[in-house]
Amino acid sequence: MQTVRDVAALRAAVAELRSGGGRIALVPTMGALHAGHMALVAEARRRAEHVVASIFVNPMQFGANEDLSTYPRREASDAKMLDEAGCALLWAPDAETVYPGGFATIVSVAGVSDGLDGAARPGHFDGVATVVLKLFNQVAPDVALFGEKDFQQLAVIRRMAKDLDLGLEIVGVPTQRDADGLALSSRNAYLTEAERKAARALPRALGEAAGAIRRGGDVGEVLAAAREKLVKAGFEPIDYVALCDTGTLAPLERLDRPARLLAAAKLGMTRLIDNLAVDPA
Ligand code: PAJ
Repeated sequence: MQTVRDVAALRAAVAELRSGGGRIALVPTMGALHAGHMALVAEARRRAEHVVASIFVNPMQFGANEDLSTYPRREASDAKMLDEAGCALLWAPDAETVYPGGFATIVSVAGVSDGLDGAARPGHFDGVATVVLKLFNQVAPDVALFGEKDFQQLAVIRRMAKDLDLGLEIVGVPTQRDADGLALSSRNAYLTEAERKAARALPRALGEAAGAIRRGGDVGEVLAAAREKLVKAGFEPIDYVALCDTGTLAPLERLDRPARLLAAAKLGMTRLIDNLAVDPA
């Protein structure tokens, strides 16, 4: 696997891959890779001959009081994992390469970016959409893969790709979880041992709520009960527990279409998110 750090070298390396024919897949990441990221790489290999992974901790998607400076960085071990998984190319630019002096363009996907994490983290999805569009333009992949773990991010990128006629395939990959159900996340490394134990309450509360809603339970009451369970487990504050339309992420009061149950809450200093499908019978 070749690692490239500037756009000219990236374009040359991608052109070289393309010259042999075959599709190119892109797996965008911020590094600190785990089995969730590697599931994207595995799915990318099934869908394309050549897999390009990117590692870039994107300052534009972090809020002023968020963890940009402490976000885990371990490029050498990440590169080893990507190489062993069969990636052809690692695109690892620095911030100056992605955002040179004078950078002035912001991509903003209205509607789907507004609620949930968009409300809790103002500007976050503008930062995500802007960097992902840049990555698409830099690599020009045929297919790009994103995790359902960040379900709103996936919805924002699908909307952007459609609205801007990007002409590439966006593939969502199911959330990879630890044995106790906790969704794998680079941020799980921040949890203390006691917090890690308590964290299992998040997928458990979502699973129970999804079941109750499917069985016809009152959505408002079920969501309130799920919030209560999270508070009891030590989560504070609860940013949201919401049932939303799968495509637009507009909030739902009744299960009358394919839906997603989404939650975000803080455990100590660590903000965790998770989501589950809840489809009507
Ligand atoms: P990052 O958090 O590193 O995640 C990179 C990709 O891995 C995202 O598509 C995310 O949804 C996916 N992923 C993370 N944990 C997962 C899990 N447990 N199961 C399945 N997929 C998982 O998301 C970002 O980076 C950034 O916002 C990015 C898209 C790279 C733009 O900067």
